[in-house]
Amino acid sequence: MIRSVVVGCGSYLPERVLTNADLAKLVDTSDEWIVERTGIRQRHIAAEGEQTSDLALHAAKAALANAKLSADEIDLIVLATATPDETFPATACRVQAGLGMTRGFAFDVQAVCSGFVYALATADNFIKAGQAKTALVIGAETFSRIIDWTDRTTCVLFADGAGALVLKAEEGAGSINDRGVLTTHLHSDGRYHDLLYVDGGPSSTQTTGNLRMLGREVFRHAVVNLADVVKETLAAVGMQATDIDWLVPHQANKRIIDGTARKLGLSTDQVVLTVERHGNTSAASVPLALAEAAADGRIKRGDVVLLEAMGGGFTWGSALIRW
Ligand code: UT7
Repeated sequence: MIRSVVVGCGSYLPERVLTNADLAKLVDTSDEWIVERTGIRQRHIAAEGEQTSDLALHAAKAALANAKLSADEIDLIVLATATPDETFPATACRVQAGLGMTRGFAFDVQAVCSGFVYALATADNFIKAGQAKTALVIGAETFSRIIDWTDRTTCVLFADGAGALVLKAEEGAGSINDRGVLTTHLHSDGRYHDLLYVDGGPSSTQTTGNLRMLGREVFRHAVVNLADVVKETLAAVGMQATDIDWLVPHQANKRIIDGTARKLGLSTDQVVLTVERHGNTSAASVPLALAEAAADGRIKRGDVVLLEAMGGGFTWGSALIRW
């Protein structure tokens, strides 16, 4: 069978760093509260005029260089974002143009913080169906643009960044020993709109709107949904938690990540944690973490890597990859 093998990854963080101490000057919060409740110590914020496609383009170029491929060898770009440059066209098309890529096709997917897992599943299915042989899968966000900077319950959490993977079709035996994406699992439940949403949009208010979240409620659902989807993922391929080398979770809250790792019986050094330095970068958080752990040599060829994420919609999902 055809497998989508990861042949490169890259990431980009805007230069400007915003610390918890900086935030304590803006709203009634403290470094102690943010670290204790979330694990976040600092985050990166895009410069004025720096757009989601700019961050995505940096990450895409880094991933292509890492894969030793040129843009004209890519058939498909799937870009996950909830903060596109414009209502349309897709930010993916701006990245395509920025790469100088005049063939193939590019589109965005919108599943908020689960976006990268959705984009990866989408690209994997295009590759398995034979409609693309190579794909660039990107998660890129400028959440700083949709944050209400007077709301301490959300402005301390979210941030900006981008990460990208390059997938390439390779023939596999159809077993769990194959390299590549082994399985993906996606879920959504639209009944939970009011717990995490943006209060604006082209068709509703004709404004961009601001992020609104009932954090405690989202937390409660995240813990349950992530545990369920991880169980479903392992069962689908007949693996045990002990087969996992690395957990690369969506980086929303260290407490959620610790809880998921504990349930799986994974040690903390098997978890790729970036939330302390990146904050919650929504669809960018998983590929940012992947790129970091692949670049520093933690994730090695042949390792089993479990990705999971949960976000607005609600949406949630997971992917299991043999690196
Ligand atoms: O990425 C998409 C998915 N999103 C998530 O997974 C986020 C899930 N939720 C969370 O990570 C956590 O619920 C939060 C980090 C958002 C909040 O942590 P919490 O432990 O659930 O706190 P809480 O909302 O229950 O608030 C506790 C207290 C409240 O005060 P009272 O009502 O107890 O007096 C808040 O007003 O903390 C207060 N508070 C703050 N205090 C200082 C809320 N935000 C802040 C703040 N600084 N920034």
